[in-house]
Amino acid sequence: MNTMDSEINMSKEAPLEEPGRQYYYIEKAKQYILEKEQEIGRKLTFCVTTFGCQMNARDSEKLRGILLAVGYEETIEDVADFVIYNTCTVRENANTRVYGRLGQLKPRKKQNPHMMIGLCGCMMQEPEVIDKLKKSYSFIDIIFGTHNIYKFAELLCNRFETGKMTVDIWKDTNKIVEDLPNERKYPFKSGVNIMFGCNNFCSYCIVPYVRGRERSRNPEDIIREIERLVADGVSEVMLLGQNVNSYGKNLETPMSFAKLLVEIEKIEGLKRIRFMTSHPKDLSDELIEVMGKSKKICKHLHLPVQSGSSRILEKMNRRYTKESYLTLVEKIRKAVPDISLTTDIIVGFPGETEEDFLETLDIVRKVRYDSAFTFIYSKRTGTPAATMEDQIPADIVKDRFDRLLTEVQTIAAEVCAVHKDQDVEVLVESVSDHDPSMVTGRMSNNLLVHFGGSEELIGSYVNVHLTECKGFYYIGEFQ
Ligand code: SAH
Ligand code: SF4
Ligand code: F3S
Repeated sequence: MNTMDSEINMSKEAPLEEPGRQYYYIEKAKQYILEKEQEIGRKLTFCVTTFGCQMNARDSEKLRGILLAVGYEETIEDVADFVIYNTCTVRENANTRVYGRLGQLKPRKKQNPHMMIGLCGCMMQEPEVIDKLKKSYSFIDIIFGTHNIYKFAELLCNRFETGKMTVDIWKDTNKIVEDLPNERKYPFKSGVNIMFGCNNFCSYCIVPYVRGRERSRNPEDIIREIERLVADGVSEVMLLGQNVNSYGKNLETPMSFAKLLVEIEKIEGLKRIRFMTSHPKDLSDELIEVMGKSKKICKHLHLPVQSGSSRILEKMNRRYTKESYLTLVEKIRKAVPDISLTTDIIVGFPGETEEDFLETLDIVRKVRYDSAFTFIYSKRTGTPAATMEDQIPADIVKDRFDRLLTEVQTIAAEVCAVHKDQDVEVLVESVSDHDPSMVTGRMSNNLLVHFGGSEELIGSYVNVHLTECKGFYYIGEFQ
């Protein structure tokens, strides 16, 4: 965890510069919490529950870092004094789930006078959501959005001082605050934000509206963070951004994602580099070349296709065609022959005909993905697709979704099976949840293998013989 070097003088006003200002509020919140704990005679506890993507997971680590710094202890949601939901709104069902869970928290808050509820993340960036929460969920204590997560300690102090619901939502920001605490989920691997926001405006997607415009971190800050992580035991990083391939375009001194990777590769002690997500339209030849030569970049590329129909891709504003996507896949496979390719696919986009859908099945058969996340199109208010004509009836979408899933799973099982009898290096991540006498390791291509071994192996790299393919994972033997 990071700390500030200078002493924090609490008798003075809060400093205006960041991150100094937040370290001031961390100290202040610490005192409020200590007083409360002395009053009730026990420790206060928290739980951050994350919905959505890796970006949110990383943000939750930042929240956990601040909560631990101010003196809370971590526990499970069912008993926590402070429950924070870091929300997602990419599809409607993500929102429904949050409202459902909030309904269940309400009676708990009545029983526990020290209980607090915090809401943050993408869903909070929607004005209708805030209106609804203020009107019908007045028992919530703190609400903030995606742009001001770094201010969590300050908001916490505000809540303690006013005793009222604290709401702070920013429409957008060009600010990136570095060097605040964070508490990783895994000691040996970590997500690292390289950029925030998205400028692509795919016509179905709400992310650009809730995460704001694209901002890249300075390469020096990224490198320094990874160096510190490595010194702290991390050997695998996942570089995070909605579209990592457009990294660096808006920096004062522009830098390509490929160049950033070359720099990161030089960090001693770092063994594996992953990244997500890659937008096909910006995947450069330079990047393919770097991937082909790299010793550290993992043999896995998540390359969301969304649809196999060029007509639908145009309506989605994806800015590539079925043909150009297939050409790209060919180029990548040529440069990195053993690469695993995964994707995201949406079915039931407005105007999708049976013919369009057959194009999607066709691209799945042509690419033969190692795995694919398949989604039913969800109408997001404010996006161009929400008002497009010809929204597809639910029964037709369901039928297409089922057909797609069968295809994707059949192919994935076949593709996964080719590794049988290979010897591979894996990073051991956990005790297997199938069997406590086994551990689970992740291969470079992102597949998991369960094999006999004990807890001490967690965090280390070992060689495993892949004995049996179980569809989407392997059973192996420690070499
Ligand atoms: N930035 C990433 C994706 C982020 S959202 C990219 O461009 O690839 C993750 C996935 O959610 C998307 O790839 C898409 O398949 C899906 N998704 C986004 N909006 C959706 C919507 N309105 N309905 C259904 N799926 C959606
Ligand atoms: Fe959404 Fe498209 Fe941006 Fe991905 S690239 S976050 S799908 S708008
Ligand atoms: Fe969801 Fe926000 Fe990620 S909407 S998918 S958590 S960027």
